Amino acid sequence: MQLKTNFLGIHLENPLVLASGILGTTGASLARVAKNGAGAVTSKSTWLKRHAGHPNPTVVDLGDGNLLNAVGLPHSGTEETRIEFENFRKLSQKPLFASIAARNLKEFGETAAAVAKLKPDLIELNISCPNVEDEFGKPFACDVNDAAEATRIVKKVIGEIPLAVKLSPNVANITEIAQSVEAAGADAITAINTVGPGMVIDIETAQPILANKFGGLSGPAIRPIAVKAVFEIFAAVKIPIIGMGGVTTGRDAVEMLQAGASLVGIGSAAKDGSEIFGKIAAEIVEFYERKKIKNVADLVGIAHKS
Ligand code: DHB
Repeated sequence: MQLKTNFLGIHLENPLVLASGILGTTGASLARVAKNGAGAVTSKSTWLKRHAGHPNPTVVDLGDGNLLNAVGLPHSGTEETRIEFENFRKLSQKPLFASIAARNLKEFGETAAAVAKLKPDLIELNISCPNVEDEFGKPFACDVNDAAEATRIVKKVIGEIPLAVKLSPNVANITEIAQSVEAAGADAITAINTVGPGMVIDIETAQPILANKFGGLSGPAIRPIAVKAVFEIFAAVKIPIIGMGGVTTGRDAVEMLQAGASLVGIGSAAKDGSEIFGKIAAEIVEFYERKKIKNVADLVGIAHKS
């Protein structure tokens, strides 16, 4: 069997995608992840202009692969993205997904227009970072109308480039948000972004460890939340899903596919090296062969059949 798949007209060697924010800062690091077995890679979120991010410490290692982070989406702006995408393309032919972030609707449109010129294979709209609330208020992904409006504005300026909208699990009803961005023109849903935010206190100093005090939770601890979100979104929309959240093994990736994801994102599990992609891909193949399944697509959403 083989893992090859087609997602919105994009050909991937396997359904595994590097999630945004991990190992995606430079073209060289993205290319290394692609070489180590990712089917596609997603860049760190691009801002129109320089965006500072939070001071250190920005990440707490909670053990067992779980992280709490508030990096604050630091970035140098779209010119850096242009250079890094060019570097990536010199090193890899694999699909490149561009994540974008912005502080308001107008800037989402401008950032999307600038990034569309770089011709990524897909644009992922990050409206769900939980760590910039002090700067910009509640994430757009937490409101049905804000999420739809951001989607509409971006879809209008990026033309034929497929648009995935990355949703937050930190809402009362994620399917309602998924349906609103689908109606506003999204071509796919990415689910989920980090959970929380949460907090860890250093009890010796009685101070929060993160400089931002609060941060998004990722890693295996959030996987059941991600699987449920993907399962429910699959039943509620027609557009495909890039499922992510705590996937660490081939077994976890198969679970995401069965819940309804067409592609599976790997984030925190790649923090110590992108060799994990090859390992997860091999474990998926092992599962497929044992079950005598021929195509990745045959597994998508099968947990919905009773
Ligand atoms: C950050 C961004 C995210 O989208 C997220 O889920 C967690 C952290 C950040 O850069 O702080």
